[in-house]
Amino acid sequence: MKDQLKAIQTAAELAAQSIDSSDQLQAFRVKYLGKKGELTAIMKQMGKLSKEERPVVGQLANQVRSAIEQLFNDKDQALRAEQLRAKLAAETIDVTLPAGDLNGGTLHPLTKTLNEIVEIFIGMGFSVAEGPEVDTVYNNFDALNSPADHPSRSESDTFYISDHLLLRTQTSPVQVRTMKAGQPPIKVISPGRCFRKDEVDATHSPMFHQIEGIVVDKGITFSDLKGTLNAFVKAVFGDVVKTKFRPHYFPFTEPSAEMDVSCFKCGGDGCKFCKHTGWIEILGCGLTHPNVLEECGIDSEVYSAFAFGMGLDRIVMLKYEIDDMRLIFENDVRFLKQF
Ligand code: DAH
Repeated sequence: MKDQLKAIQTAAELAAQSIDSSDQLQAFRVKYLGKKGELTAIMKQMGKLSKEERPVVGQLANQVRSAIEQLFNDKDQALRAEQLRAKLAAETIDVTLPAGDLNGGTLHPLTKTLNEIVEIFIGMGFSVAEGPEVDTVYNNFDALNSPADHPSRSESDTFYISDHLLLRTQTSPVQVRTMKAGQPPIKVISPGRCFRKDEVDATHSPMFHQIEGIVVDKGITFSDLKGTLNAFVKAVFGDVVKTKFRPHYFPFTEPSAEMDVSCFKCGGDGCKFCKHTGWIEILGCGLTHPNVLEECGIDSEVYSAFAFGMGLDRIVMLKYEIDDMRLIFENDVRFLKQF
């Protein structure tokens, strides 16, 4: 029996040398130390031994068992250390490698231009007021002195939600909301989305952007309007740009005008850009009609106001020389990356 025990130890020592996976280690444990293992099998026969032999063999069996346990533990530790080393090696990050390209975004040209315009007006003491895109027919038309039969009210021009609600066709209803909310002095601009039943083409879109402005105070005149808008266009298009005001009609202003700027491409000589006129139309404006002031609770005998509204998309197209409005809304990254 002693020989058997020694043989088991020798076999275990030999077997341990070739273990190189945890599966093999587990098989080793089962074979030599398990309940059905070789050592246990021998221990079970201890009963057959004589009284004298039993303690001697028992002691040897214990020695062999702890020797094999030691083999197991050593191998277990060695395997774990090896696994950790392999894992660390596989997960090593080479911090000296050059970084991959960061695919950073850019601001949309609309956002960039809007930010720029808002900055300019804030610099002149305006604050920003916003209104909802779904507004009342009253705010969009009635309160703005729009006659009941004005063509822009028709179903073919305007998206109606109900008899009383519509998708605003202009940012002008924000004037109404602002004046109804508080007394002068008022000095706000209001950028936002507007909607009209226009077919999509190079210069039209059923969704577009406007920036509205209104200044209400005592003694506001057309000179204030001209001074403010002159300063604005010079800041956007450059100092050499001149302005021209052409008489026009808007229901909510009297007098009303459209403002052109001298072509910042050719300096006013005439080119393809300005359709050989030397001028580019930029916005509508005027002195707010007394009916509008009164409707909004402002005494038109005491206060006067000027207002203006411009298409942001058009200004972006002029500024960046984009000849098709659809490009602005398609959001093709290859296009947007240019700005
Ligand atoms: N709401 C006008 C439009 O959509 C633009 C406009 C013209 C706004 C004159 C104004 C203004 O405030 O005074 O065509």
